[in-house]
Amino acid sequence: MTLNTSKATAQQLKTQAVNAALVNISGRQRMLSQRAAMFSLMLANSRSPEEHQNLKLQLRHVVDLMESAHESLIYGNDELNLPKQKSAAITAIYFDAPFNVDQQIRAYLATVRSFFQLPETEITPTNSFLRRITDEASGRLLPALDAVVAQYQRENETAQVENKQQQLKLYQERCVAAEKAQKSAARAQETLVALQKAQVQLIQAEKMSSLGQMVAGIAHEINNPANFIHGNLPHVKRYVEAIGNCLKLYGKHYPSPNDEIQAYIQEIELDFITEDLEKTLASIDLGTDRIRDIVLSLRNFSRMDESERKSVDIHKGIDNTLLILRHRLKQQSYRPAIEIVREFGYLPHVECYSGQLNQVVMNILSNAIDALEDEFQNHPNTQKRLHIKICTEAYADGVVIKILDNGTGMSLETQHRIFDPFFTTKEVGKGTGMGMAISYQLISEKHNGTIECFSTEGEGTTFVIKLPNDPA
Ligand SMILES: Nc1ncnc2c1ncn2[C@@H]1O[C@H](COP(=O)(O)OP(=O)(O)O)[C@@H](O)[C@H]1O
Ligand SMILES: [Mg+2]
Repeated sequence: MTLNTSKATAQQLKTQAVNAALVNISGRQRMLSQRAAMFSLMLANSRSPEEHQNLKLQLRHVVDLMESAHESLIYGNDELNLPKQKSAAITAIYFDAPFNVDQQIRAYLATVRSFFQLPETEITPTNSFLRRITDEASGRLLPALDAVVAQYQRENETAQVENKQQQLKLYQERCVAAEKAQKSAARAQETLVALQKAQVQLIQAEKMSSLGQMVAGIAHEINNPANFIHGNLPHVKRYVEAIGNCLKLYGKHYPSPNDEIQAYIQEIELDFITEDLEKTLASIDLGTDRIRDIVLSLRNFSRMDESERKSVDIHKGIDNTLLILRHRLKQQSYRPAIEIVREFGYLPHVECYSGQLNQVVMNILSNAIDALEDEFQNHPNTQKRLHIKICTEAYADGVVIKILDNGTGMSLETQHRIFDPFFTTKEVGKGTGMGMAISYQLISEKHNGTIECFSTEGEGTTFVIKLPNDPA
């Protein structure tokens, strides 16, 4: 392509130079013919011998110049960029009637030479050579030379038009090639992005399926013993009640037991035990309830690989996720507790992959917790209460979930790159840079929704997820 272009350009430059030379030199011939006539007239009318000498020199020069230019125009001259080849039109003007330019010029030059070479006495205004010169110069020769110039000009113009067309063609070809190159570059970029996405998805699918299996396994293992406890508690309650009643009966019928029994009753504070036992049992009951809740959320959460969309209660999903994260939200030795503010609106059930949605919420909440911890570490004396606010509301076409934190916030650069795979600002081992990339993919591709991030450094971050009712 480049080679062709430069070749064509060199050829075009050559043609341009040749055409310019033809127009210039043929135009100069016209001018020289007039100058020869003028000098001849001046010579005839001048009385000064010095001027005579000078004008004769000038005339010789003009005639020589015209003659050599004429030869060059006819036979070509590489130095002057004049070609040997001529168009049929030019050949006709030079050699055929009505112009016969070749013949005319040769005759004219011969006449001028004859005139200025005459003996001084014959160089007069009435000399017949001079008359021929002036007649020719303003008569037949002028239109003939004009015809040559005009024809050369025409040919030059045609060449220029062709040149322009050629350039246009080349330019168009170049545009087409550039567009092609651009398209294939874009295609390569698309392929790269698709590959990256596929890779992220693969890694994530792998991670989630093993995590899901593990979570499901643990949930199952905890569930069994928790069920024993929960299932046996009513019996324990009944047995304890029976034993208590029995003790009361003993007390009623044997109001004064022997010293050993009395001492023991005092030692173990029997009254307190019987009173506290009931509370203890109630709290065991509560504890097993809570274990069952956690197990349920773990199970829900581990349903990542669900292949079907289902009508989902989003609030339940968020609460499950919060439950799983409870240990991270609690007060730690190095920071106060993180407060959760729920502002749930009325939401219709939404068609979605609940496991995936939980995962997105989990990713955002984990990042928020990290940002809050960092914020506290940077400003341990801060008065601000670390909190995460989760708001939900329905809108015409779907639901909006907003998750706000008052943690560190993000720089503009981080905001621009937050959804890039493998982008992380966290230290090795803590951040993978996958959370937001995956969340973006799950929301935009799997749910046809949008996820946006708004953040101010030092103030906090808000994520806004929109899920359409009809994700298809
Ligand atoms: N709530 C947030 N507050 C401040 N920065 C955040 C928040 N969420 C995400 N980020 C920034 O976005 C980056 C990418 O997040 P993510 O994809 O989850 O990867 P990771 O958490 O493994 O670093 C984080 O490293 C962090 O710099
Ligand atoms: Mg993360």
